[in-house]
Amino acid sequence: MCGIVGYVGERQARPIIIKGLHRLEYRGYDSAGVALVGKGGQIDLYKCKGKVDDLEHFLEGKDTTSTIGIGHTRWATHGEPNDANAHPHFSQSGRLALIHNGIIENFRVLKDALISHGFSFRSSTDSEVLVNLIEYIQDTNECTLEEAVRIALQQVVGAYAIAVIERGNARRIIAARQSSPMAIGIGEGEYFLSSDAASIIDYTQEFVYLNDGEVAVIEKGKPLQIKNLFGEASKVDIQKLEMSISQLEKGGYPHFMLKEIHEQPDTIVDCIRGRVNPETREIILSGVLDNKDKFLKAGRIIFVACGTSWHASLIGEHLIENLCRIPVEVEYASEFRYRNPIIRPDDVVIAVSQSGETADTLAAIEIAKRCGAFVYGICNVIGSSIARATDSGTYIHVGPEIGVASTKAFTGQVTVMAMLALVIGKLRGTIDMDYYHQVAGALLELPETIRKALESAPAVEKLASIFTYAHNFIYLGRGYNYPTALEGALKLKEISYIHAEGLPAAEMKHGPIALIDAEMPTVVIATLDHTYEKTVSNIEEIKARGGKIIAVISEGDTQLRKRADFCLEVPSTAECLMPIVSIIPLQLLAYYIATNKGRNVDQPRNLAKSVTVE
Ligand code: M6R
Repeated sequence: MCGIVGYVGERQARPIIIKGLHRLEYRGYDSAGVALVGKGGQIDLYKCKGKVDDLEHFLEGKDTTSTIGIGHTRWATHGEPNDANAHPHFSQSGRLALIHNGIIENFRVLKDALISHGFSFRSSTDSEVLVNLIEYIQDTNECTLEEAVRIALQQVVGAYAIAVIERGNARRIIAARQSSPMAIGIGEGEYFLSSDAASIIDYTQEFVYLNDGEVAVIEKGKPLQIKNLFGEASKVDIQKLEMSISQLEKGGYPHFMLKEIHEQPDTIVDCIRGRVNPETREIILSGVLDNKDKFLKAGRIIFVACGTSWHASLIGEHLIENLCRIPVEVEYASEFRYRNPIIRPDDVVIAVSQSGETADTLAAIEIAKRCGAFVYGICNVIGSSIARATDSGTYIHVGPEIGVASTKAFTGQVTVMAMLALVIGKLRGTIDMDYYHQVAGALLELPETIRKALESAPAVEKLASIFTYAHNFIYLGRGYNYPTALEGALKLKEISYIHAEGLPAAEMKHGPIALIDAEMPTVVIATLDHTYEKTVSNIEEIKARGGKIIAVISEGDTQLRKRADFCLEVPSTAECLMPIVSIIPLQLLAYYIATNKGRNVDQPRNLAKSVTVE
């Protein structure tokens, strides 16, 4: 969950690394550091607790002249966030410096062995164990750094993306990956290295994505070499990444999260572009059409995902069961992977992930593949590990999501799921074609519908100021909007740190209604759908117990206007697309409450954007 950047070439390494680290801060932000090979061949290492800004202050006035270096922004796994545990880590002699993203699961055994060989440690990290293991192997085998890295990694159990530099060598970085992303940017006589290609898009659009078990020798003036852990050469596959720098900036908004909320009309345009034909209202998803037989004979669909992607998958379950009549299960990837799940060869497993790097989701994919299931991916990040590990898939194309709280990825995921359900439903003949074209039409209108929903922003901001100091919230919804309630509650808790619970509205009377009093606001998604009247009854039950209701209602709904304490209106769309619209005021509500409380909404405490550890 950390961010890695590296550079070797003719330019000064420090500004490139610092800029890249700023862009990677979404991956972790509790400490940061940089190591450079200085003029005399020595390694200069600077690191400190705090954000990349703190590192920049720390570097002020230091002579950092160097054309090679590695940098890191950390999300702590082993050892508290402090200066000593920050990366890079020196080996015992100071000859090597290493940065690491991931977890070395057998670090204790390796550490004990190294201690018995006279090594001592400055930090409590697993990463320092790895750099010392590499040094020990290099010394005892009298081999090159590249060989020592390969031999060391053969002994490592766990996940890693690493980069290592060596004293006296200002031309070469050794990098490797296992279950943590690593992209190598190819420039003119220079190389870049990053956990996320987007962070170095200013310098190059050509990237090589390392595969699991690969080690790269990145040497100025020489062609890139990639080998497996046993020294056999792998193919160097250069891919182009088309992305504009403006996508990585805040564009005048105070936070990435607010920018990303407001981007949603445009991101949905990108998501449906070339997929929904505006003339014929036909939908084309090549990932499905190229694998027709898998979807035609699918006995079951299993979604695996985490967090917001799991909430989107719950909506996918409704869509596919309704429109395709295929039984669907939605699994937390973290539970699925350790549950000895029953997977049949005619199952289609759909892995959903914004980052495409979530460790639990990746592990679930491996299990599904081992059992012979066809695995389909719904990802945002192009070329990500999950995108590459799946048999086929659909990108949501919503552009880089930098705010830790997922917003535009959620609406993109649900949009893709709706298209998926329509395409599969048509293939299997389970969907009424008039309805198909009606929903396709609603998809085409979605950007405008979302734009209208965003007009509620000033009203939401006002409402947020009333509820900023509430200690708990309940979020309720039914049908397609039950997952929306879960997602609204997750948004609020992760960025405001207020406890919030999402529930199916009818479950209240089975226990949670005991929580209701005047201090407990309940947010209810009560738009005009086939459960509307039932939801109104649930609202009455809460009101009768003195609860305060904030209702998300359909435009023009006069009934709930009179009954709820506060209303947020959203425009209508097809019922199955409604979560894409009704989540908008809930994203805004969480945002404004969190900013009123002075929270760092883009980088909330204890969190990181991509969870590449278990
Ligand atoms: O990148 P992924 O979609 O696989 O990430 C899954 C979750 O970690 C993620 O959705 C998380 O819950 C977000 N912070 C929610 O806003």
